[in-house]
Amino acid sequence: VVDIRKLYAESDVFTYDPGFTSTASCESKITFIDGDKGILLHRGYPIDQLAEKSTFLEVCYLLLNGDLPNAKEFEAFDNTITNHTMVHDQFDRFFNGFRRDAHPMAIMVGAVGALSAFYYDSANIDDPQQRIISSHRLIAKMPTIAARAFKYFRGQPFVYPRNELSYSENFLRMCFSVPAEDWKPNPVLTRAMDRIFILHADHEQNASTSTVRLAGSSGANPFACIAAGIACLWGPSHGGANEEALNMLAEIGTVDRIPEYVQGVKDRKYRLMGFGHRVYKNYDPRAKVMQQTCHEVLAEVGHSDDPLLKVAMELEKIALNDPYFVERKLYPNVDFYSGITLRALGFPPEMFTVLFALARTVGWISQWKEMIEDPSQKIGRPRQIYTGAAARDYVPLDKRG
Ligand code: ACO
Repeated sequence: VVDIRKLYAESDVFTYDPGFTSTASCESKITFIDGDKGILLHRGYPIDQLAEKSTFLEVCYLLLNGDLPNAKEFEAFDNTITNHTMVHDQFDRFFNGFRRDAHPMAIMVGAVGALSAFYYDSANIDDPQQRIISSHRLIAKMPTIAARAFKYFRGQPFVYPRNELSYSENFLRMCFSVPAEDWKPNPVLTRAMDRIFILHADHEQNASTSTVRLAGSSGANPFACIAAGIACLWGPSHGGANEEALNMLAEIGTVDRIPEYVQGVKDRKYRLMGFGHRVYKNYDPRAKVMQQTCHEVLAEVGHSDDPLLKVAMELEKIALNDPYFVERKLYPNVDFYSGITLRALGFPPEMFTVLFALARTVGWISQWKEMIEDPSQKIGRPRQIYTGAAARDYVPLDKRG
């Protein structure tokens, strides 16, 4: 019988790092984070500058290609994305297979994975042209698919994309208008939507991005890889936190109930959702922009006195001055104010993570592309520390007690 301990002693040494708290899995030129200083750069550009001055589509170009586009490059990119917004007519039938009350994230996991069945050419990942087309298709079709998931959830007819509208105008129109309606975008809300997409566009090797890279490392179809990322994002510790953060604020309800809720966090009954981050041990720079966006949106829709905003602001103040949170370096993350903002934009909580997935698609596919184009790329294959039974001899069924 093999002595497993002896085998381990003789085998190659490898690190044991549960949760990958200190393991870099790749090199990347896309996103830089300094968690202690609260810095986030995309291709070198600070997130607050991009959120203030850029557009989501321009940030998509930046993440995918490495530099901001000039006017001609942007026009060509905008045209390409616009040309790919439609989904195959057969694709709509896919939605009808889901129950009406299906969580839109469940639909997203299935529907985006199903794109692999419509674009066989994308499986040829060794062809650089195919990698680019797959990236463009994903960025272009995500708003259409996300809006269809929303409309299906609401029991309303689908609204087709319109080429003359901007990326975010088009998305809001597909969500909030009815077919053939003369819908006018609200510029403040459209800009807020675009900024929210920018804030979620990429965040280096988080759980869902690492999932996309790991799935892609086997050479899998890019649409299937992005579906894997969506599945990972859904969890409440990751993208699902925005939905949970809003539920938490609603559960607290009023400012006077905050101390009791905070005590429950300290007693480890539950966590403060929208707080804490694996990398940021300082204020998440996205949370600052999100807080400002939240105020702008609430003012525009006439909800500046939203009781949940009051609870959020007071909760933040209390937590930032409480030794429990200070010692653990727990600050609001991007999800803390996003739920209130998205609700004011008209989205139900079930859609919050879908919007995150829509925006993060460009980060996922840029990281996937970077990985495939990296000559040192290998299939991802972590090791483990085996803690099971020692090696033992097989006993026939009739001899077992
Ligand atoms: N509320 C209360 N305590 C917390 C929280 C929180 N939100 N987050 C971490 N802690 C505490 C832990 O209890 C632990 O305390 P201890 O050392 O006394 O045991 C300490 O802080 C460290 O926590 P870990 O779980 O080790 O931190 P980790 O880096 O693994 O977790 C995570 C990061 C998952 C984001 C965590 O902070 C969390 O659960 N936050 C709430 C969910 C959330 O907002 N997620 C969104 C993340 S951002 C994004 O995906 C866009």
